[in-house]
Formats: sequence, C-alpha cells, structure tokens
Amino acid sequence: MEMPATPHAPALPAGLLPQAPLTALAPMQDVTDLAFMGVIAHYGPPDYFFTEFLRVHAQSRPEPHILRSIDENATGRPVFAQLIGEDVHHLRRTAEALLRHPVAGIDLNLGCPAPKVYRKNVGGGLLREPERVGEILAALRASVPGLFTVKMRIGFEDDRHLDRLLDLVNEHRVDLLSVHGRTVRQMYRGDVRYDLIARAVSRARCPVLANGNVTSAAKAAAVVRETGAAGVMIGRHAIRNPWIFRHCRERFAGREPAPVRLGDVREYVERLYHATGFPGLAEHHHVNKMKKYLNFVGQSVDPAGAFLHDMRRAATEQELFNVCDRHLLAEPGREFAAEPFPGVVARPNCEDAATEPAACSLDTVTA
Ligand SMILES: Cc1cc2nc3c(=O)[nH]c(=O)nc-3n(C[C@H](O)[C@H](O)[C@H](O)COP(=O)(O)O)c2cc1C
Repeated sequence: MEMPATPHAPALPAGLLPQAPLTALAPMQDVTDLAFMGVIAHYGPPDYFFTEFLRVHAQSRPEPHILRSIDENATGRPVFAQLIGEDVHHLRRTAEALLRHPVAGIDLNLGCPAPKVYRKNVGGGLLREPERVGEILAALRASVPGLFTVKMRIGFEDDRHLDRLLDLVNEHRVDLLSVHGRTVRQMYRGDVRYDLIARAVSRARCPVLANGNVTSAAKAAAVVRETGAAGVMIGRHAIRNPWIFRHCRERFAGREPAPVRLGDVREYVERLYHATGFPGLAEHHHVNKMKKYLNFVGQSVDPAGAFLHDMRRAATEQELFNVCDRHLLAEPGREFAAEPFPGVVARPNCEDAATEPAACSLDTVTA
C-alpha cells in the first residue's frame, strides 16, 4: 500500500549543543553494529548513528544483526537505517518494513565504491545515472513520511553530475545529505575535495555532513570552517579514537580536549573485546576480529608502528593482551596521538590500489 508523502517532514533531531556542528558515526559494514555503537557511546556518542548498509533486492529481508542495532540501540542517540539497492519497488518495500522499527529515518547509499557493488548499478554506481537517482529519490521520498537522508560521493569518475545530483536532492526534499568528498573511482585514495563539499553545502537546501579523512576534533573544526557544513561524519578515525565525538563537541564549544593516554586505550581495547564477543565465537576468530579494529588504533600508538607489528602476530587472546600490556601499559600516561602517525597504516591500506576489489568491508580494508 502506498503511504502518502507528508508535505513537511519532521525536523532533524537537534544536536546536543544548540548551534554546535553535528556529528555522525559513518556507516561501516562489519563495524557499526550494536556492540560497536555501544562502545562508541560509552566514550561520547555522536549526534547520529547510521547502520551499515542493508542490501535490497528481490529476495532481500533486513539482516537480523543490523535490525538489532536499531531495535536494541541503547545509546540514547538516533540511528538511521541505510539501504543500498536500485530496484524502486524493493527499496520502498524495505523502507516501509524498516519504518516499523525505531529508526530515526531512512538513508540511501550512493557511494559504495566496491566494483562488485557498483557494477550492479547500486551504491556509487548510481552516480553515473542522475535520472535513475531521481526515480529512486522520488520513490523513497514518497514512502518515507519522516526523515529521508542520502549519503553520496562527489561523483563516479569526476564531479560532472554533482550539481544535477544536488538539484535532485533538493527536488525530492532530502532532509540531510552526507558527502564523502571523493569520487567512486578514487575509492579511499587521494585528497578529499572539501571544496566540492563546500559546493554541496551552498547548493543543497538541507544540512550537509562533511565526510572523508576527518581525523581529529581539530580537523573537524577546520573542515566545518572550510566547507560551511552543518557537521561532520567520521568513520575510520572513530575506530582509532572513540573519544573523537566528545573531543569534537568540546572543540566546537571552544575548549581544548584533554589528551587520551595509552592507559585509556588499553581500557578501550578491553571494552571492545568484551563487547564484540558472543557465545560460540571461537577465540581465534575473536582475536582476528579485534585485529581489524586495532589496525586503526595502532596508527596512533607509536610512530614506528611497533604495536601494529606485534599485534598482527598475536594468535590468542592471551598473546593479544600481552602485546597490549607491553605497548600500552609500559607508559600508561604517555599520550595517544590525536592524529595518526604519518606512514603508520592499516594493512592493507585502504587508500592502496591493492584493496580495490571490495572496499566496503573491514576484511578487505584491514585484514
Ligand atoms: C570498513 C568500512 C566499511 C564501510 N561501509 C560503508 C557502508 O556500509 N555504507 C556507507 O555508506 N559507507 C561505508 N563506508 C564508507 C564510510 O562510511 C566513509 O564514507 C569513509 O570511510 C570515509 O570516511 P572516513 O575517512 O571518516 O573513514 C565504509 C568504510 C569502511 C572503512
């Protein structure tokens, strides 16, 4: 049954500090689940969460583990459900099903750069066809009486369709737009085009979140200044530094955030380990899962990458925590670097051509 479009979508939930730029945790497949959201919330939640993408096709049903991140969300902050797909009927069916859950709204993925995804003409692949994007936006807007949001890149090969896409965002009354300032072809490599995010900010009638390489609260403030965006969306650097949203809030309020210490990071690792375990998860799988997060954490532990080197060789829980104790508790009061150390990279580096086949998975980004 068709649901009527409401002429006035409800306003976005306000940020916690009036006038302060908004913050959001970027959707990340295999990362932004219930457990990770809970850990992030412990250190200072963003204003908004987004689920990892729910795949939409003829046989799809919302994945139960993603539904848990909506139904059992205890962070106190709204969560948007993100869809990836191109079939208008099934996108509407899925959006309507998700609206029966406590979602803040429905988000459409127009950015995933993995070739196996964009070749199906979904995610970033759709940016090649603005007319098709227009049809999908029209259909979802008509199905979503509340908040309808979009996350996009600046284009597929280049920014040739950017203005047209932004006009479609306006025409279909999108409520919030997140822009990763790279093309699909760039994957995670190369400079983020904050100038093009600024163009989106000036052309779009809805608030825009700036996304891409927001590494710290200082960088967040600089990006907001440079782009005029309503806020920032942060992905990988929230895995590295879960305090980043609290730091952003402090920085936006004009205060210098207190530094994080290596002892605090040791506590984060332990919390993450407990949060991500579940009955039946074999120890070596759990350790491997932890290594994927620690690949990012290690970028700020020491400039030589010694923590990363040792952590990658741990095979058991005991070995992993021994490595953590050695590197994080020897000098627990030493500062955890606010920015990643240059040259210390998650392996394989997701900005590296080697990861091209499936860039939307933590396995390929960091395994
Ligand atoms: C492991 C991983 C998984 C991702 N999964 C998604 C996803 O499900 N949906 C999406 O829109 N973007 C996804 N992205 C892209 C991020 O949301 C974000 O746009 C990108 O990482 C750039 O932001 P950052 O520099 O703050 O990490 C993923 C990125 C990573 C690293």
